[in-house]
Amino acid sequence: MIKSDLFTTLQQGPLRHLEPLEQEIFCTRLELFLPDVERPLRRLYAHLPNFDHWLEKFIAIAARAYATRPAALRQLDLRRVHQPDWFQQPDMLGYVAYPDRFAGTLRGVGEKIPYLKDLGVTYLHLMPLLKPRPGANDGGYAVMDYRAVRDDLGSMADLSDLAAQLRAANISLCIDLVCNHTAKEHEWAQKAAAGDPTYQAYYHMFPDRALPDQYEMTVREIFPEFKSGSFTYYEAFDKWVWTTFNEFQWDLNYANPAVFGEMLDILLFLANQGVEVLRLDAVAFMWKRMGTDCENQPEAHAILQALRALSRIAAPGLLLKAEAIVPPPQLVPYLGQGEATNKECEIAYHNVFMVMLWSSLAEGKVALMTHALQQMPPIPSGASWLTYVRCHDDIGWAVTEEDAAAVGLNGYLHRSFLSDFYSGRFPDTHARGATFQFNPRTNDRRISGSCASLAGLEVSLERQDWRELDLAVRRILLIHSLILAFGGIPLLYMGDEIGLLNDPSYLEDPDLAADNRWLHRPRMDWALAEKRHDWQNVNGRLFQSLRQFIHARKRTPALHAQAGSRPVWTHNEQVFGLLRVSPRGRVLVLANFSPQPQTVPAHRLHELGFGGPRHDQLRDQPLPGWQDITLEPYGTVWLI
Ligand code: GLC
Repeated sequence: MIKSDLFTTLQQGPLRHLEPLEQEIFCTRLELFLPDVERPLRRLYAHLPNFDHWLEKFIAIAARAYATRPAALRQLDLRRVHQPDWFQQPDMLGYVAYPDRFAGTLRGVGEKIPYLKDLGVTYLHLMPLLKPRPGANDGGYAVMDYRAVRDDLGSMADLSDLAAQLRAANISLCIDLVCNHTAKEHEWAQKAAAGDPTYQAYYHMFPDRALPDQYEMTVREIFPEFKSGSFTYYEAFDKWVWTTFNEFQWDLNYANPAVFGEMLDILLFLANQGVEVLRLDAVAFMWKRMGTDCENQPEAHAILQALRALSRIAAPGLLLKAEAIVPPPQLVPYLGQGEATNKECEIAYHNVFMVMLWSSLAEGKVALMTHALQQMPPIPSGASWLTYVRCHDDIGWAVTEEDAAAVGLNGYLHRSFLSDFYSGRFPDTHARGATFQFNPRTNDRRISGSCASLAGLEVSLERQDWRELDLAVRRILLIHSLILAFGGIPLLYMGDEIGLLNDPSYLEDPDLAADNRWLHRPRMDWALAEKRHDWQNVNGRLFQSLRQFIHARKRTPALHAQAGSRPVWTHNEQVFGLLRVSPRGRVLVLANFSPQPQTVPAHRLHELGFGGPRHDQLRDQPLPGWQDITLEPYGTVWLI
């Protein structure tokens, strides 16, 4: 269909109730972004005889969503379009929480807005809250209805209300959209199980083991302790179903354009509830290709690019966040590369940085971190990292053989060391964590544990060792100071701001007991949080220090996400250096990863352009120029 016909069809169809100007806005955006819509969709579906029909269908979905977008959200769209770098500003601060564990219900979350404001939060990621399957549901990542909220949390109307309340407080709401799989109880899956071929084509189903066996030669097992292999057999309908994660999570088949259409519709529906950021879960797995690991396939990127282009037309205020916890070379493309520059997800988790923080703390050295981060390709100007020290998931040691070898380490042995160190096996370790998903075939071991427990707080409290306790607090602050300075949106994980320890109570719940990631998903301790202004106790010291760092970040324009972020050698193998240089200003971050004081020599500071008079922006105090800088144990400065 030629473009003018398409516009007429839309104006007479989904857009018909809108004012002419509103129609015009849609058509202008469509005209601008149509090539960005078509390019990835062609990559996915051009071989289908009715490609044009699907293209028009997807555009009609976008038009319907646009036509029903509430006025307040259209206003938001306008603001975002006029200030496209809003999420890259240094005043951004994210907070991640389970709504029930943080505040009981969605309404309860609304009541906690003052607490979030006290910290300086501008972005709130509420962990899975759409209706999950009953019983075990992988922490909510097995959704049976994307258009309903989990019963005990409230309703969809409560979600919209909360989004509006947060928006009024200048906090953007982020929720999860699990787009790789549905619960096996989802309506589509139920119909598929009942034998409906239309819905069987929504999933990857096989009559026998022939293809699954072939695929399994190259795919990796994600939860080897929960089940072996990536497929599950169902006797009731005599088929093997692709289940990358748990048995009850069925992978969707995006080779079927109907699946793409459904997900687009859901995505825009959620955007129209006032959700400003969608965390697209497990995107690396969305496309399968025989002979590969079935992760990070070009088509998975095409799906994201098409979703981005269509949402830019219908709801340009929406941000897409990629959850792809994959090695560095595969990670960066989720933020857009080549012809997709600025045309894929706007934000993605910097899991490599997170891993490197823990690796450097364990080793007391920064060579691997410096080298690995130096190797990361640059990201587009319109994209940004999410930096974090902990999240609800385990830590997988994303250390490549090449990076390890470049600094004289053996990748395999280093990863084993890190697992030993953080699971508490390593002699004299300060960390208290647990092994998650040991894979005997590869010896891969991931780690569960809260930030505070991994950083040594739990052990030091137990031993009443006050020197160790001081070091643990310093470690926690050190890694947080780095996620605040790196560039992007720093995410605080609920409870880390007051040093919540591992919580073993999940063992009492049969639906949770098998999954030790619940160790670091505690309930908020509001009694402790009440004491957050008291510097005398360790929790208050953490909260207040973090708050001070957050304020320092907010008043430092040079930390804008668009400013380059370059790790530099400091001539001290225990001190990490990060240089942020842009027209907005220059910042040199120095971070001591050892429990002893460490010095960076004056001549090196001079070479880096910080020889003369300087100021520590973190504590807002002048530092003497022209001399060495000595950092306290686990100490850090932000020089300007
Ligand atoms: C993502 C989630 C994780 C979940 C998995 C499957 O990785 O973060 O918690 O288990 O997807 O949905």
